[in-house]
Amino acid sequence: MMVTIFSSLVLIFFILLAGMAIIPVFFGAPWHPLSDKNINRIIKFADLNPGENFYDLGSGDGRVLIAASRKRFIHGVGVEIDPIKVWLSRYFVITKKLTDKVCIHRGNMFNFDVSEADVLYLYLTHQALDRLFPEILEQMKPSARIICYRFCIRNLEPTKVNNDKNLFLYNLNKGRTVNEYS
Ligand SMILES: C[S@@+](CC[C@H](N)C(=O)[O-])C[C@H]1O[C@@H](n2cnc3c(N)ncnc32)[C@H](O)[C@@H]1O
Repeated sequence: MMVTIFSSLVLIFFILLAGMAIIPVFFGAPWHPLSDKNINRIIKFADLNPGENFYDLGSGDGRVLIAASRKRFIHGVGVEIDPIKVWLSRYFVITKKLTDKVCIHRGNMFNFDVSEADVLYLYLTHQALDRLFPEILEQMKPSARIICYRFCIRNLEPTKVNNDKNLFLYNLNKGRTVNEYS
């Protein structure tokens, strides 16, 4: 009896985990949790200033926003389609006492308002980025910066790329005048 209950719980756990990772593929991008080392690398590369509005589209477990808020004192805004990850990330925000600094929305990034973003962070796929760009640029502040992890924005020239070539910075001011989106 105990063995059956335990096996059922293990099975449910793996089904939930698979759902969290795989189902979001159909909405835009799969989930791939980052190591603390990579989160720190991303935050360092983003060069965030205190008080900036830092947006994460497809915010996953919210750890990038939480770490950025703690290290760089930014205001974090995330949008995530998967309700389990929304719940998990809100739980992390509450336990870290960051409810006045980090806000996680349950929703679809393809119709999320980014007009207040100073920095937009994207860890998505090329297909999802192709759906967002170039239309999303119209909503964004001219001074905004975009940070992409692993997948670059096709047809937009990055201002800066890290040595590992997996972090890309796009400065909209420069992008709009120097490198017209084609
Ligand atoms: C590769 S993960 C990145 C997670 C987080 N940004 C990070 O860097 O750790 C992509 C996330 O986007 C979410 N996602 C996929 N399609 C989405 C959509 N249409 N709207 C909002 N979130 C979406 C997935 O559930 C997943 O958590």
